[in-house]
Amino acid sequence: MGYIDYVSARPRPSEDCVVYLDHAATTPMLPEALAAMTEELGQLGNPSSLHNAGRRARRVVEESREQIAEVFGARPSEVIFTSGGTEADNLAVKGLYWARRAAALGRSAAPPRRVLATAIEHHAVLDSVHWLAGHEDAAEHWLPVDETGVLHPAALAEAIAEDPDGVALVTVMWANNEVGAVQPVTELAALARENGIPFHTDAVQAAGQLPVSFASSGADAMTVTGHKFGGPVGAGALLLARGVQPVPVLHGGGQESEVRSGTLDAPAIRAFAVAAAVMAGRRDEEAARLAKLRDDLIAQITAAVPDAVLNGPLAGPGRLPGNAHFSFPGCEGDALLMLLDAKGIACSTGSACTAGVAQPSHVLLAMGADEARSRGSLRFSLGHTSTQDDVDALGAAIGEAVQRARRAAR
Ligand SMILES: Cc1ncc(COP(=O)(O)O)c(C=O)c1O
Repeated sequence: MGYIDYVSARPRPSEDCVVYLDHAATTPMLPEALAAMTEELGQLGNPSSLHNAGRRARRVVEESREQIAEVFGARPSEVIFTSGGTEADNLAVKGLYWARRAAALGRSAAPPRRVLATAIEHHAVLDSVHWLAGHEDAAEHWLPVDETGVLHPAALAEAIAEDPDGVALVTVMWANNEVGAVQPVTELAALARENGIPFHTDAVQAAGQLPVSFASSGADAMTVTGHKFGGPVGAGALLLARGVQPVPVLHGGGQESEVRSGTLDAPAIRAFAVAAAVMAGRRDEEAARLAKLRDDLIAQITAAVPDAVLNGPLAGPGRLPGNAHFSFPGCEGDALLMLLDAKGIACSTGSACTAGVAQPSHVLLAMGADEARSRGSLRFSLGHTSTQDDVDALGAAIGEAVQRARRAAR
């Protein structure tokens, strides 16, 4: 049932199985990516070195760059490798803000201060915006989402119209990591563009499940990371449209077009690119398979727990195919998670734990949910190793687990 033995890269025999329903947190490496990374780890050479070993490593990096560019509809020169999604988001948000500010000061104009972002962004974006507001002169502006977690273009247009020249950048995720809501990125990017404002999108969750094209989206910057679609943790990229030049966050050797410093991790980059190519080759077929499994998962949960509330958009094109997110009235999400874990079922709560105390999910709160609904929620996310057996195991276990979690909460 959907558990990969990392040594043989084959599903494990049934007695060792866990039901892994947390692919949005991280998904097992694809065997092709694991093989490529393992081979590359045995090679020597810094891609910046001029000798033969260095040039060989450089070729690996540049071929990988071409693959990533092709998969995500970008030019190779637009791909800046990073250590993952968090770094790419920090570089986009802080770097674009600083670049806009520097450009304005260079013209002796008042620098734009407003950073527009939805309130449901991942913490890598959310906290970067907060940081700019706390440490720099930025003014944070949280864009509202509807009760399904979607930002409507009219809301962005209204926020920009308040003071178009004062907006430094707009950042809106392509798809939300908790409730799977897909945003109208192309329309949002067009609005920013009409007003001459750089637009960044965090496409970390969308990249492995939806046809994500940087060029067609009209975005100026886009974040992707490998470990959400079968690559290794620690390799990602910020795609930057031609002429878009954020101020670096990391200073040093200037390896990535002077925008990002640090020795390039050729093994991880190669595995990231291989995973992207394999994923892209079967994405549509896989998305259809996951959507079917996801719909059955929703049906089984609703049958076992009739008062469970599905959060986020209805199953359909507006929702990531591998995502189901429920609130279970009268339960604490953490307790329910541990009860399911004891049965070998792995999922996640939307709530973050701060100093041992469960905090309500900022995503559900932004969607208008009350604290109880937010705290009693769980995310089930499917991926390339998911099977019908996984869904059936959850369907068989959820009813009793919810009853026990409710008794514990009384
Ligand atoms: C939407 C989103 N953005 C950014 C990240 C961070 O990516 P990474 O784990 O590669 O730093 C995640 C990871 O959970 C995510 O879901």
